[in-house]
Amino acid sequence: MAIKSSNLLTTKPSPLTAMVTLLILFILAFYTLHFPHPSLSNKTTFQNIFLSSSSNSTISTYLRTLTMHPHLAGTKPNSKTATFLLNHFSSLNLPSHTTSYKTLLSYPLHSSLTAHFSNHSSPLNLPLTEPSAPSVVHAYHAYSPSGSVFAKPVFVNYGRDIDYRALGVDVKGCIVILRKGGNLGRSAMIEKAEANGAVAVLIYNDEGDTWRNGFERGHVMKGVGDPLSPGWGSSVDGSERLSLEDNEVLKRFPKIPSMPLSAEVADTVLSSLGGSPVPLDWRDAFNSKVTHVGPGPTMLNFTYLGEMKVATIQNVFAVIKGSEEPDRHVLLGNHRDAWTYGAVDPSSGTAALLDLARRFSILLSSGWKPRRTIILCSWDAEEFGMIGSTEWVEQNLINLGSKAVAYLNVDCAVQGPGFFVGSTPQLDSLILEVIKKVKDPDSEGVSVYDTWAAAAGGNNIQRLGRVDSDFAPFVQHAGVPSVDVYYGKDFPVYHTAFDSYNWMAEYGDPFFQRHVAVTGIWGLLALRLADDSILPFDYLSYANELQLYRDILSNMLDQKISVHPLTSSIEEFASAAKEVDDELKELRLLETAGQFVDMKRRAMNDRLMLAEKGFLDGDGLEGKQWFKHLVFGPPNDPEKLDFFPGIADSITRSASTGERERLAEIQHEIWRVARAIQRATSALRGEFT
Ligand SMILES: *[C@@H]1O[C@H](CO)[C@@H](O)[C@H](O)[C@H]1NC(C)=O
Ligand SMILES: *[C@@H]1O[C@H](CO)[C@@H](O)[C@H](O)[C@H]1NC(C)=O
Ligand SMILES: *[C@@H]1O[C@H](CO)[C@@H](O)[C@H](O)[C@H]1NC(C)=O
Repeated sequence: MAIKSSNLLTTKPSPLTAMVTLLILFILAFYTLHFPHPSLSNKTTFQNIFLSSSSNSTISTYLRTLTMHPHLAGTKPNSKTATFLLNHFSSLNLPSHTTSYKTLLSYPLHSSLTAHFSNHSSPLNLPLTEPSAPSVVHAYHAYSPSGSVFAKPVFVNYGRDIDYRALGVDVKGCIVILRKGGNLGRSAMIEKAEANGAVAVLIYNDEGDTWRNGFERGHVMKGVGDPLSPGWGSSVDGSERLSLEDNEVLKRFPKIPSMPLSAEVADTVLSSLGGSPVPLDWRDAFNSKVTHVGPGPTMLNFTYLGEMKVATIQNVFAVIKGSEEPDRHVLLGNHRDAWTYGAVDPSSGTAALLDLARRFSILLSSGWKPRRTIILCSWDAEEFGMIGSTEWVEQNLINLGSKAVAYLNVDCAVQGPGFFVGSTPQLDSLILEVIKKVKDPDSEGVSVYDTWAAAAGGNNIQRLGRVDSDFAPFVQHAGVPSVDVYYGKDFPVYHTAFDSYNWMAEYGDPFFQRHVAVTGIWGLLALRLADDSILPFDYLSYANELQLYRDILSNMLDQKISVHPLTSSIEEFASAAKEVDDELKELRLLETAGQFVDMKRRAMNDRLMLAEKGFLDGDGLEGKQWFKHLVFGPPNDPEKLDFFPGIADSITRSASTGERERLAEIQHEIWRVARAIQRATSALRGEFT
C-alpha cells in the first residue's frame, strides 16, 4: 500500500488522481484511527504461522543427524556439529558466526578397578565403562586428579553431612562409595569425602531399574567457566591465562581421584561389605542388597590416569536483526557438546534450536520483521562447567547488562513425560500465557498449561539458583531475566553411552511430539519478547516471590535476628511494582489511542529490563565472588534454602562460630539482600533518589 500511494503522490496530479489520493488518505486516516495497531493483529498472525509450522519429523531428522557420533567438547566430531549448525543457518539465509576459545578441558587416559574379596577368590576386575560402546569416551570424572589407591571401601549413602554422622564410622584412608540423589553436586560430594579423610570416591546412580550397567560421566570442578581464565573471557590467542599450578586454578579441582560406577558394579562391591550394618534411615526406598557399610573387608585397587589440556571450543550463533529496536536482544541458548551420543542431553535441545531456525525463517519469508533482535546461541563445553556460555557472558558483560531483554535456555529438551519450567519471577505471567497456547503432546484437546496445572506438585515454576545449565552465567553473573524449559526429568541413561537416538525414539519421545511442544513454547516466548511493543514483564509476581522467601526465612531464624530490613525493602519493591503496573496500563491506553509513545515506551522497557540487575552485588557471594546475584545462586548447603544464597551460607557457615559473631554475620547478609532489593526498586522506578 505504501508503494502505491507514493506513486500516486509523485505523478502530476490530475483532478481524478487528486480525488483518488484524497480518498486513499481518508481511508488511511480512518484505518489508523480505528485500527491504530495493525502490528497487533500482525503479531497474532505471525504467532499462528509459527504454531502451524511445527513438524515432529524435521526435529527427529535433526536429532538423528546430531547423534550419529558422540560429540564431546574439544573433539573433532563436536567441531563437525558446529559446522552442521552453521550450514543449517546459512541454508536458511540466517546470518551466523562462531566465537572460539581455548579452554582447559580434561580427558581420561586409563582407569582400572579390582576387587579383592575376603574369601580369597582371585581378584575381580570390574568394568569401568559400558560394554560395546567403542567410540564413546570411557566413563570418568572430568578434572579428577590422577591417582592410584589400594584401600577399603565404605558406603556413605548420598555423602551429605548427615550421612557421615549417621554412619558413625571413620572413613579416613578409605574409598568412599556414594550414590547420587541427595541434592549435592558431584564436586560437593567429593569435597565432603575429602574433608572426612577419604582417599578416593566412587559415585553411582541407582535411580532406575533398567540400564544398570550405565556409567554417569560428569565434571567435578568447582565454579563455572574456564579454570584458566576465572572471571574473564579467554579468547583464542593472546589473552591472560593462569598456569595450572596457580592456586586460583588448583582450588577448583578435588585433591582425591574419583570415578563413576555403574549400579551393577556398585552392587557387586557393596554386597561384599562387612563392618557396621546400614543405618536404619538409609534403608527406606533403597533397592539394593547392601546390608553393611564397611569398611572392608573387601579391598579395592583403584587407578585413574587422566590428562588436562587446553582445547578449542566453539559457540555458534544465528542472528535475526530487529527492525525497530535492533539494539535490544532476546537470546535463546542450548549447549551442543555431549558426553556421549547425547540424544537427550543436549541434542534434543539442539534439534529444537535447529527447528526454531527453520520456523523463524518461514516467518521471515512471510514478512515478519521482529521488533527486537533475536540471537540463537549454541554453546560448547557446557558439560565441563558451562564453559562456552560463561566465557561469552564474561566477554559481553556490559552489552548483556544494558541490551539483553531475556535469555531463554533449553538444555535437555525432552527426557520423558511431564512439563517443567524455571524462570526469574518477572517472566512467570508470560510463561503461563504461552503454555496455554501450546498443545499438550500427550493428551488430545488440552494445552500444556492444563496438564501442568492439574498435576500433583505441578503448577510450580522453579527458580534458577542451580548451577546445572547455561542459564547460570546469565542469571547469576549478569542478572539477565531468564527462563529454562524441559519435558521429563531424571532419565535413567543420563550421561551414559545409552543416551542415543534409539533410546529417545523408544522411551523418551516416541512420536517427537514433546519436542514439538518444547520448541513451540521456546519460540512463542521469543516471539512475545521480541515483538511485544511493551515488554511482557510482571514485577508484582517478583514481589510476591520475595515476600514468600522472607516469610520462610523469618520462620527459620532466631528471634535475635531482625528480618525487618527485608520486610521494608520488599514492601518498597512491591509498591514500585504496583506503580509500574499502573503506568503500564496507562501506556497501553495511550498506545491504543494511537498516540506517539515511542520515547516513553522505550524508557519503561528499559526499567523493566534493568531491574533484575539490581539484585547483583559487586562483591558477590562470600567465597564464590563470581556469583553476583543475591536472590538466586548456589548455596553451599542446598538442603537449607534455595534462595538468598548469601543468607543461607551465613546460616550454615556460622554453625562453627561463636554466638555473637554468628548473629552478626547473618544480620549483615540480610542487610546486603535488603540493599540489593532497594537497588532493584530504584531501577524499576527509573528515578534517582
Ligand atoms: C567371594 O565373594 C564375592 C563377593 O561377595 C563373590 O562374588 C564370589 O562369588 C565369592 N567367591 C567364592 C569362591 O565364594
Ligand atoms: C593395583 O593395580 C595396579 C594397576 O593395575 C597394579 O600395578 C598394582 O600392583 C595393584 N596393586 C595391588 C596391591 O594389587
Ligand atoms: C509424528 O507424529 C505423528 C502423530 O503423532 C506420528 O504418527 C508420527 O509417527 C510422528 N513422526 C515421527 C517421526 O515420530
